[in-house]
Amino acid sequence: MKVSFVGLGVMGFPMAGHLVKAGFEVSVFNRTQTKADLWAQTYQGIAASSLQECVADADVVLLCVGNDDDVRSMTTSQTGALQYMKSGAILVDHTTTSALLAEELSKACSEVEVRFMDAPVSGGQAGAENGVLTIMCGGEQDLFDELQPVFNAYGKSSVLMGVVGQGQRAKMVNQICIAGVLNGLSEGLILAEKSGLDISTLVDCLKNGAAGSWQMENRAVTMSQDKFDFGFAIDWMIKDLGFCLDEAQRQGIQLPLTEKSVQAYKELSLEGLGRMDTSVLMKAVEKESKL
Ligand SMILES: NC(=O)c1ccc[n+]([C@@H]2O[C@H](COP(=O)([O-])OP(=O)(O)OC[C@H]3O[C@@H](n4cnc5c(N)ncnc54)[C@H](OP(=O)(O)O)[C@@H]3O)[C@@H](O)[C@H]2O)c1
Repeated sequence: MKVSFVGLGVMGFPMAGHLVKAGFEVSVFNRTQTKADLWAQTYQGIAASSLQECVADADVVLLCVGNDDDVRSMTTSQTGALQYMKSGAILVDHTTTSALLAEELSKACSEVEVRFMDAPVSGGQAGAENGVLTIMCGGEQDLFDELQPVFNAYGKSSVLMGVVGQGQRAKMVNQICIAGVLNGLSEGLILAEKSGLDISTLVDCLKNGAAGSWQMENRAVTMSQDKFDFGFAIDWMIKDLGFCLDEAQRQGIQLPLTEKSVQAYKELSLEGLGRMDTSVLMKAVEKESKL
């Protein structure tokens, strides 16, 4: 199977590397060529000098860029991958996008006889580097089955959630839950600090009980140390929660906690914290907690 990977960011760079380690013939493309060259030096794969060169011969093209418009520019635009991919090839989008974009892309793919799956991931930078991502998929069962060797290269779990778009909707639920947990964890930590509890002992005590969570295990201590310069950037989270609010509106419901979280993240971003980890939400909760 010839595999191409487009978008060598925090996530794409190591994901494409895992494909080489799993024995695939991998060619990569990145808008900024220097990253593709660095990738080729690191993993002994091929750095294509154009998108066309990267995808023309590929059986599977994997994509992990930024937002809906970034995906469009790499796929359906006049210079996008769909202009060059061969008939019968597969396009998998690992970018976190709207569900509508997934449906739009699926339609464009079928017009040029390319098969499509939306497959956003969860697990962050560490999950990508360690090859243990969770992959939420939307599309046909036979395509999902065919892609298992690819997903197994960098995923610990891949689940078919339903038709195209359902992978993105599952990812929306994931992001809503992260924001919700971080709100509660922030309030808990603020009270714990005021009460003189030792945070590390507290986390060890609570993490295996009913309040345990990934955020508690991986973020509570750094939150209490005021360390946020790593992890999943809040500017990405603002984009993701925006998709959730749009989808909720389409479904005729409101998501009050998510709306509040987006507002808090937007204010933090305006303060210059846009690249900080999502756990920086604690700063907004701290402000509100003052009498
Ligand atoms: N980081 C995480 O923890 C995490 C976790 C789960 C999901 N995600 C999602 O995964 C996606 C990628 O995240 P990331 O953290 O890897 O982002 P990132 O480090 O900012 O990398 C983004 C990549 O997309 C490319 N790109 C962006 N806009 C483009 C455009 N218009 N045309 C061509 N290439 C473009 C960038 O190319 P250049 O190098 O040229 O800028 C870069 O390779 C996002 O949708 C994000 O929400 C991220």
